Amino acid sequence: MTSTLAPLALADRMGRLGTETAFEVLARAKNLEAQGRDIIHLEIGEPDFDTPANIVEAAVKALRDGFTHYGPAAGLPQARECVADYVARSRGISCHADEVVIVPGGKPTMFYAIMALVNQGDEVIYPNPGFPIYESMINFVGGTAVSCPLREENQFALDPQDVISRLSENTKLVILNSPANPTGGVTGKNDLEQIIAELKKYPDVWILSDEIYSRMLYDGEQHYTPLTDPEIRDRVILLDGWSKTYAMTGWRMGFGVMRSDLAAQVAKLMVNSNSCTASFSQIAGMEALTGDQSAVDEMLAKFDQRRKFIVQLINDIPGMSCHLPKGAFYVMPSIKSTGLKAKVVQDRLLNEVGVSCLAGTSFGAEGEGYIRFSYANSMENIERAMERVRGFFESL
Ligand SMILES: Cc1ncc(COP(=O)(O)O)c(C=O)c1O
Repeated sequence: MTSTLAPLALADRMGRLGTETAFEVLARAKNLEAQGRDIIHLEIGEPDFDTPANIVEAAVKALRDGFTHYGPAAGLPQARECVADYVARSRGISCHADEVVIVPGGKPTMFYAIMALVNQGDEVIYPNPGFPIYESMINFVGGTAVSCPLREENQFALDPQDVISRLSENTKLVILNSPANPTGGVTGKNDLEQIIAELKKYPDVWILSDEIYSRMLYDGEQHYTPLTDPEIRDRVILLDGWSKTYAMTGWRMGFGVMRSDLAAQVAKLMVNSNSCTASFSQIAGMEALTGDQSAVDEMLAKFDQRRKFIVQLINDIPGMSCHLPKGAFYVMPSIKSTGLKAKVVQDRLLNEVGVSCLAGTSFGAEGEGYIRFSYANSMENIERAMERVRGFFESL
């Protein structure tokens, strides 16, 4: 059948927009499942736990109480106040409601901050392998994406010198992400302080600190945020949200913290795009931040168990090796010894043995030679998956 549609004449900027492959691989995996295949999901980055009951109840009550209307673009005043208190408590800093913008997820803070600050040709330093939307958005707005490698031999922590050596008079923004997706790597306080000390010499450079996994740390690791440094605080945009910590990925709830005049500009971007974040979700989000935290602790204890289990199983597989990451719920084993491209391994694991995972290259060119497993799945499924992966690697 011949198409009668005219060619799709998109705006040029669309050609620069990337994507998040996790959603595509998930769709392919679901498709195979619909055909009757048994697929084990280790691809998508979301907790496999349900949202804690107290949060769900708060949302149901909020719906009944009439929180079904538009609210202010920057968030309900009581929710902004609540987030400011949470940020102050969790980071040991002062924080005011007018510095908070509540947005539908973690991603919008990234999107809006880059839209609001980065001009054509401005350089943005970002981690690679890293969350794919950083690179996508930098390119989309016409910025110059300056890749900063994360190395396995450094346990995928940022090496301060790698950031410092990339700073230039054209740098507009540095993106930090610790604990990190896709590696689970954690950049420690000393290393971050070194980067910040250098950034003090560049007063026009902004910092986007993506701390969406800040509560997901293991082995006694402590979270550090550049917001704590008063000299740099006005140039830091904090990205955080409810998705990972409270198993609320589908609720679309996140927040940004930044100086109040920038917050007002981000609110303007909200008016132009979403109008506001769902009102009843915000009320539920307040319960999440102030209510019983035991479900978060239980989830973290389970992730910790799975983390150790999956790393042990991976290291028993010939052709794979993996260090024990200190954060998030991902592992990024090396498959370099196989000589196969990461994308080939991703596709073959899905098609041949029904294990859905992501090629390291889904997170940037520096991810070649690695695959990412999300261990947000049961111990039983992790064990079954690694058995299949072992079979695949042994057959090579
Ligand atoms: C590092 C990082 N930042 C931000 C996000 C976006 O979170 P959300 O689903 O709340 O938009 C993710 C989600 O995977 C992430 O891994």
